[in-house]
Amino acid sequence: MPDVKFLLLGFGNVGQAFARLLLRKRQTLRQSYQIEWRVVGITTGRHGAALDPDGIDLNEALDLAEAGEPLDPLSKIKIPIDPSELIRASGADVLFENTPVNYQTGQPAVDHIRTALEAGMHAITANKGPVVHAHRQLSDLAASRGRRFLFESAVMDGAPIFSVWRCALPAADLHSFRGLLNSTTNLILTRMEEGDSYQQALSHAQKIGITETDPSGDIEGWDAAVKVAALVTVLMGVPLTPDQVDRQGIETITAQDVAAAQAEGKRWKLVCEAERSGRDVRARVHPAQVDAQDPLFNVMGTSSAVTFHSDVLGALTITEENPGPDTTAYGLLADLVNAMREA
Ligand SMILES: NC(=O)c1ccc[n+]([C@@H]2O[C@H](COP(=O)([O-])OP(=O)(O)OC[C@H]3O[C@@H](n4cnc5c(N)ncnc54)[C@H](OP(=O)(O)O)[C@@H]3O)[C@@H](O)[C@H]2O)c1
Repeated sequence: MPDVKFLLLGFGNVGQAFARLLLRKRQTLRQSYQIEWRVVGITTGRHGAALDPDGIDLNEALDLAEAGEPLDPLSKIKIPIDPSELIRASGADVLFENTPVNYQTGQPAVDHIRTALEAGMHAITANKGPVVHAHRQLSDLAASRGRRFLFESAVMDGAPIFSVWRCALPAADLHSFRGLLNSTTNLILTRMEEGDSYQQALSHAQKIGITETDPSGDIEGWDAAVKVAALVTVLMGVPLTPDQVDRQGIETITAQDVAAAQAEGKRWKLVCEAERSGRDVRARVHPAQVDAQDPLFNVMGTSSAVTFHSDVLGALTITEENPGPDTTAYGLLADLVNAMREA
């Protein structure tokens, strides 16, 4: 069986965690799924890129990335400046797109994925931008080429959300959902309850690699809004962009607000919700005080949870405890295996 060739666009927290997971799961992929692989390309924004048709040594790439060094010394061929040309020149079979999210347009990730699908690759991403801005277009393109566009890690990291609906819940109609979808804000609110200042809590979230590249996207509710839009778009079949979500972040919640809620046995949470209403969907992200009876009360730290209400199962809740880049990496790996066996 020939090697499946991978191209990694983006080699930050998620890209590096995925590289480590690939190395760790090499034997399982070979024995259980007959997947032999090599990475033929890695690109970054400011830390260079490498292309090698014979396979890049991932341990060397990880060492360079961890030292903040550019990847260029690993390249065996000249790197095209134009990203589309680079994607085609890689000769890869699967693109993993893990560049920073663009809430407004989804670019340049949408173009990266379109180019890869047109070149006959599967496209797998943890980036929410292409899901909300081009889900139908990219899924149709993938189907027309007999390839897959998969994005399990885009919402709730590696927890199965999209694949549960795609594979395990046929013919179910989703009426509404409610949950906590942004780890950074939940962690900040948790640590503020424990006595951290807002700035100390944010610094901690950045240190463990869970914030967006620009953390204001988390704090102002954009990350949560884009996830709500992704769930509505894909699971309810109603295209929704993040700016159509009624959005409020946690930037106005003070240490005094947190303490006052605690004194009443309540907690502040950044609640995400959407409800179908006729042919429309009302979607909202907002800080709210929840009490001990609320299922979101005990979802702490980086954990997230979502309760789906459908016509067939009533309430179905999925909770993930303390996710991070490693769990996001698992979502990418699960997508890889599913793409290879579903295609
Ligand atoms: N972190 C998580 O736990 C998590 C969870 C779920 C989903 N996600 C999503 O996963 C994606 C990556 O997140 P991350 O935490 O890994 O971000 P990150 O640590 O900031 O890494 C982003 C990577 O993309 C590179 N990059 C930037 N612009 C690029 C371009 N135009 N072409 C190629 N590479 C480019 C960056 O290179 P330079 O550093 O050299 O600029 C860096 O290697 C985001 O879309 C995020 O929303 C992350």
